[in-house]
Amino acid sequence: MMKSTPLKIINVTLTSMVCAYWIICLSVLLGSHSQLVKRDLGPRFNRILSMLPKAGPTSRSINVADIGCDHALLSAHIASMHHVNCVYACDISEKAIYSAKQNLQSYPSHIKKKVHLLVGDGLHPLLSHSSSKIIQEEQIDVLILSGMGVRSFFDILCDSSTDPSQKIDYWNPMQGVDTKVLDSLGVNRIICQPWPPNFLPLQAFIGTVLSSKTSSRRGSNNNEGSGSGWRLECQAVDKVAGCHYITSSFVRTPNDSPSMENIDNSVVVTTPGTFCLEMNPLYYNSITGQLEEEESACWQDYLNKQLVSLERKKQGINGNSEKYDIDNIIKLVKASL
Ligand SMILES: C[S@@+](CC[C@H](N)C(=O)[O-])C[C@H]1O[C@@H](n2cnc3c(N)ncnc32)[C@H](O)[C@@H]1O
Repeated sequence: MMKSTPLKIINVTLTSMVCAYWIICLSVLLGSHSQLVKRDLGPRFNRILSMLPKAGPTSRSINVADIGCDHALLSAHIASMHHVNCVYACDISEKAIYSAKQNLQSYPSHIKKKVHLLVGDGLHPLLSHSSSKIIQEEQIDVLILSGMGVRSFFDILCDSSTDPSQKIDYWNPMQGVDTKVLDSLGVNRIICQPWPPNFLPLQAFIGTVLSSKTSSRRGSNNNEGSGSGWRLECQAVDKVAGCHYITSSFVRTPNDSPSMENIDNSVVVTTPGTFCLEMNPLYYNSITGQLEEEESACWQDYLNKQLVSLERKKQGINGNSEKYDIDNIIKLVKASL
């Protein structure tokens, strides 16, 4: 048997120490990367993440657009998902896109590569020449709108015929979502989480989306989606730091699925703000006793707060028919408490 000389022992020890050092460095590096990627974004963003289409063995990878991405933390997190092909992180503010760019630096390159930062108003950057590839070759499967007021949602999704300086008129049928743009982008799902989630504008927005018919889907050879509309597939309420957040996920739906016309006429009032109340899964599940205890308490808490502002709004209304409408809304809300 060969005897180990002291020199050999020192050599082996030094080599193992160097190896151990590199292993530790590598695992710290990988650990911090995966920690960064798997960082918990909190209940508000987690709710949005939970409404994204799930990866499936046969499902193709998806493209997502995060409009008003700001810091792009949500965009980066979505890009880290295996079934996500790319995320278009758009914001009207150059400053926001600059800070998003800085934030992205700390992510691994395979995630950074999947996030496309675009500056511009609403959907415009997606339609612009530089990214027209989306129209020709790809599609935006999911559109995310969060952290903006409902007014901005209307401006981004609805026909540009509305004058942004005008207040939203809850009492007139809305002009509808600009389906041509959504169709050209191939959007199949819209996830929205407005802030603030004021009851009337939010219901008016939901009513507008649900009453919009889409035309034929871009890129499809058959007539898939022709004459289809939108369905409010799921909805949730969360209370974070004393504030309520309502997250709603609309999906493109064929025309034979339940639509506005199928709702019991007793709850169909003429205004968009009320006719869709029963189409809100939160409202429907609440009146049918299907909400989990915690969510039910959160929803009731939200409605009670909204009732205060609805009553205040009623005081400021002069027209009889509008007063009648708001009374109906108040009655419907109270009936669910
Ligand atoms: C409060 S931040 C919300 C960020 C993030 N989406 C969230 O939910 O926390 C709102 C962002 O929307 C952007 N924004 C507002 N109006 C917009 C518009 N019309 N088009 C694109 N971005 C817009 C603002 O610049 C801002 O960065």
